Amino acid sequence: MTGPSATTKYTGQLIDKRVLIVGGTSGIGYAVAEAALEHGARVTIVGKQVPKLEKALAQLSATYPTQTAGSRLQGMARDLGDSPTVESSVQEILQLAAGSGKLQHLVITAADMTPPPPVSEVTAEGLQRTTTIRLMAPLLFAKHLPGFMDCATASSMTLTSGAHAHKPDAGWSVIAAHCGAVESLMKGLAIDLRPLRVNAVAPGAIMTDVVKDILGPFYDQAIQLAKEKSLVASAGAPEQVAQAYLYLMKDTYVTGSVLESNGGMLLA
Ligand SMILES: NC(=O)c1ccc[n+]([C@@H]2O[C@H](COP(=O)([O-])OP(=O)(O)OC[C@H]3O[C@@H](n4cnc5c(N)ncnc54)[C@H](OP(=O)(O)O)[C@@H]3O)[C@@H](O)[C@H]2O)c1
Repeated sequence: MTGPSATTKYTGQLIDKRVLIVGGTSGIGYAVAEAALEHGARVTIVGKQVPKLEKALAQLSATYPTQTAGSRLQGMARDLGDSPTVESSVQEILQLAAGSGKLQHLVITAADMTPPPPVSEVTAEGLQRTTTIRLMAPLLFAKHLPGFMDCATASSMTLTSGAHAHKPDAGWSVIAAHCGAVESLMKGLAIDLRPLRVNAVAPGAIMTDVVKDILGPFYDQAIQLAKEKSLVASAGAPEQVAQAYLYLMKDTYVTGSVLESNGGMLLA
């Protein structure tokens, strides 16, 4: 592919850049992978389950035969919720994504989407995996990133929070706590890793496949509720919020920011 020219200075910014999407095998991360490929990037996706990774790689290759040709798309399956192995997994992932060069953009959407336990059922043991995948893994990526990335303003790390950080639903204290912590972590990293840019996306109700599965028979009811709770009268789609991640990769003047994609639900 040819790099950006005078007439592609906006659309050509990601051409041939190495973009790692941790959580890119489904949902929001998968849509970010599609968007990055459409913009000419070399993409690495990561998830926990091998069959799901293989399916995602096959689907992306079938949808984008030109953009994925010549090993421009690759993937790795690792369990980033396993605290004894999380640091070595992070290093292996970064090694693969950087290849013989340097990584330019890291996006992390990975998280276990199982609904959290209510406060009355919280246990220290049960919290371990949630904290490992949502906080420990991003922090360890930050630790090892300078060895695999040019920590310059043209590069970026984007974390994922959620509207729960600012307006938790009943029963979601565990996730609210982690989303809030992710936003604070992002601000700390924006200072500690400067001039690398570090930001977070805070999605609202995004109808990814896992969310549809969890809602099951309550899907229609949840869509109605999401419509009522938004200023745009709809729930969100992964393709919509993917634009937020793309923007944060491309605007080299934005760092330490939380970008909300939630249909205005905090004002509704
Ligand atoms: N969808 C929403 O409404 C919404 C709203 C607010 C915030 N968010 C946030 O957005 C992010 C993505 O949500 P989503 O709906 O796109 O979820 P999703 O479709 O389930 O995607 C999660 C991704 O993370 C990977 N993953 C999960 N646990 C992992 C582990 N232990 N190790 C490695 N990879 C792991 C998954 O792979 P495997 O399936 O193979 O594990 C998958 O690739 C999450 O952080 C979520 O909290 C979502």
